[in-house]
Amino acid sequence: MDYYIIKGGKKLKGEVKISGAKNAALPIIVASLLTDGETELHNVPNLKDILTIIKVIEYLGAETEFNTEKNILKIKINKIKKSEIPYDLVKTMRASVYVMGPMLARLGFADVSLPGGCAIGERPIDIHLAGFESLGAEIGIERGYVIAKAKKLKGTHFIMRNVSVGATINIMMAAVMAEGETILENCAMEPDVVDLANFLIKMGAHIEGAGSERIVIHGVKKLNPVSYAIMPDRIEAGTYLLAGAISRGEIKIFNCVSEHLAAVCSALEEIGFRIEQGKDWVHILPGKIYRGIYIKTLPYPGFPTDLQAPMMALMATLPGISVVNETIFENRFTHVGELRRMGALIETEGNMAIIHGVKRLLAAPVMMSDLRAGASLVLAALAAKGITEIRRIYHADRGYEKLSEKLSSLGADIKREKGGVY
Ligand code: UD1
Repeated sequence: MDYYIIKGGKKLKGEVKISGAKNAALPIIVASLLTDGETELHNVPNLKDILTIIKVIEYLGAETEFNTEKNILKIKINKIKKSEIPYDLVKTMRASVYVMGPMLARLGFADVSLPGGCAIGERPIDIHLAGFESLGAEIGIERGYVIAKAKKLKGTHFIMRNVSVGATINIMMAAVMAEGETILENCAMEPDVVDLANFLIKMGAHIEGAGSERIVIHGVKKLNPVSYAIMPDRIEAGTYLLAGAISRGEIKIFNCVSEHLAAVCSALEEIGFRIEQGKDWVHILPGKIYRGIYIKTLPYPGFPTDLQAPMMALMATLPGISVVNETIFENRFTHVGELRRMGALIETEGNMAIIHGVKRLLAAPVMMSDLRAGASLVLAALAAKGITEIRRIYHADRGYEKLSEKLSSLGADIKREKGGVY
């Protein structure tokens, strides 16, 4: 298995292009199941998670062609051939449960393995299922599979008990071809939801309010295949801004949507970095004095939970005390033990972490435990004294396209090595 060797201490400098958004691409690829014909998607990032979801739709009968150099994915659907998604496909990636919405809409039946827990918490899908029930589906659980049936989905008024990105997306996909009007309340307002809605609207769906707490959908009988470009990845963008910050360098990210980065940019400014920005670029520059801050993760437009771990690596290098309050997932501190191995001073109590900044992090052999925890270790290694070896980097391959190439182009001393026993 591959690993990274990173020699810390280089100030990163230069420009980096942001790839397409993984969390928007995943549901958009799945939503292509809502129509027959050929869908063409641009700006699709070449990531492990994307290859997994492609496998899932191929399993259901799609023919695909992914040009990974040009980031163009062509999806051809003649017929959905299966109505079951086995555990082996769901266990590698939770977002596989997104197929339930389109399968219910088109086939009136879905038999999908329950995803189970994951490294960052229990992560149930009860809200997805309650939404389908509200649309008229019958839901049963047998041998670890959810079996959903509906002769015809019917418009409904559904209030989500908790803001959930996945549930908003899945229920929206089911409702676009339901009979009549569906009103969804307490929806996630993440840009990924809006990107999916824009894709569905281009296909002929009637959706209003995506990006707000209330989404109104008027069901249509048929959707048409279209060509669509996926929006830029705000989490990848935020990670590069944090890489600039932790190295005290100067990085300009482009091909991003700066509006999506408001929470992370204001946190960086509060710490003391300088931010300049246009509509589709952000430039981070060193400041004069830095200070610790308090971060509370929240649904969009609040500070994203997916940047909590990378932000904590930066906090470990700031003067004074910083505090993290993780409110989205109950077990999202698996990076803390590894950061401590690199000399970080972090105490945790429940969902709170208190970080005492140190003058310099120190290299150590460390291991990624999930995607964003992995990003935090890469950032810590960029700033640490000495040479850090990071194992289990397959986690980072799930969500960062060309990570080592992009960091190298900014002047980082990072090598991806093959092999190793662990
Ligand atoms: C998505 C993102 C993930 C991000 C998260 C929060 C994808 C593929 N993943 O995950 O990167 O960290 O949003 O921004 O887009 N919950 C329930 N019942 C449900 C669904 C969710 O209780 O049916 C809870 C979860 O356990 C969690 C909270 O709601 O505590 C938010 O989860 P949710 O927004 O659904 O996250 P995901 O869609 O899984």
